[in-house]
Amino acid sequence: MSETRPVVVEVHELRKSFGAHTVLDGVSLEVLRGETVVVLGGSGEGKSVFLKHVNGLLRPDHGSVSVLGCNVSELPEDEMVGLRRRVSYIFQQCALFDSLTVGENVAFPLREHTDLGDSDVARHVAVLLERVGLAGTETLAPSELSGGMRKRVALARGLALDPEVILYDEPTAGLDPLTGLAITALIGEVTRTTGATSLVVTHDIAVAAKLADRVAFLSSGRFTFTGTMAGAARQGGDVGRFVRAGGVYA
Ligand SMILES: Nc1ncnc2c1ncn2[C@@H]1O[C@H](COP(=O)(O)OP(=O)(O)OP(=O)(O)O)[C@@H](O)[C@H]1O
Ligand SMILES: [Mg+2]
Repeated sequence: MSETRPVVVEVHELRKSFGAHTVLDGVSLEVLRGETVVVLGGSGEGKSVFLKHVNGLLRPDHGSVSVLGCNVSELPEDEMVGLRRRVSYIFQQCALFDSLTVGENVAFPLREHTDLGDSDVARHVAVLLERVGLAGTETLAPSELSGGMRKRVALARGLALDPEVILYDEPTAGLDPLTGLAITALIGEVTRTTGATSLVVTHDIAVAAKLADRVAFLSSGRFTFTGTMAGAARQGGDVGRFVRAGGVYA
């Protein structure tokens, strides 16, 4: 990969505390256009907190976050709405609207951010659902879906506006291994077909091994390693132990 590609996500010296609890203690990361960077780390290390700063759901105490050339840390909320059209966030818990059908969930961003009429929206929704392997499920309620299906619907909704950046928070958490593998393959295919820049937060080594161009390891509020998965597996200390514990690397 050429290193002349533009930087799409730039996090510089980000610090965040909740009360006396410092979660992020000066993290910096650059993600290039089209690159997939996986943020690895143990439970409670601050992976979700990190990701929420990238789309402005949280504001830094110190440091800066820039996405697609916009300084997210200082952007007023109305301009943030425009940026969020271009940046999809696939939430750890899917965040589907339980009172809406699958079709209405996927249609939601199209109705919010485009002028498409009903028949065009329906056509788009059908294509999006087919793309994630859920053709014809428009009338189902989220409560009727398995965990894997919920992830697929969340992904279809996240793809509706052709995002340039996709943020995935624990895309395989709570899924059985085969369903997790299928969702991982789907994310890989989305990356290949859209060329989107991706940040994937996970503690699942198999997911990281399949998707990561680079991995950043979050520990005690810092990225203590940034590089390839194979490189991480060769490290001593926490990073190497964590990556080798996944069973993918000897
Ligand atoms: N809004 C908040 N207010 C106070 N503390 C918070 C808030 N959000 C997160 N935290 C704390 O920040 C720490 C990191 O949380 P975070 O959800 O980012 O962990 P994580 O690495 O994503 O964990 P997991 O792998 O379990 O999802 C936790 O101790 C959590 O309690
Ligand atoms: Mg989390």
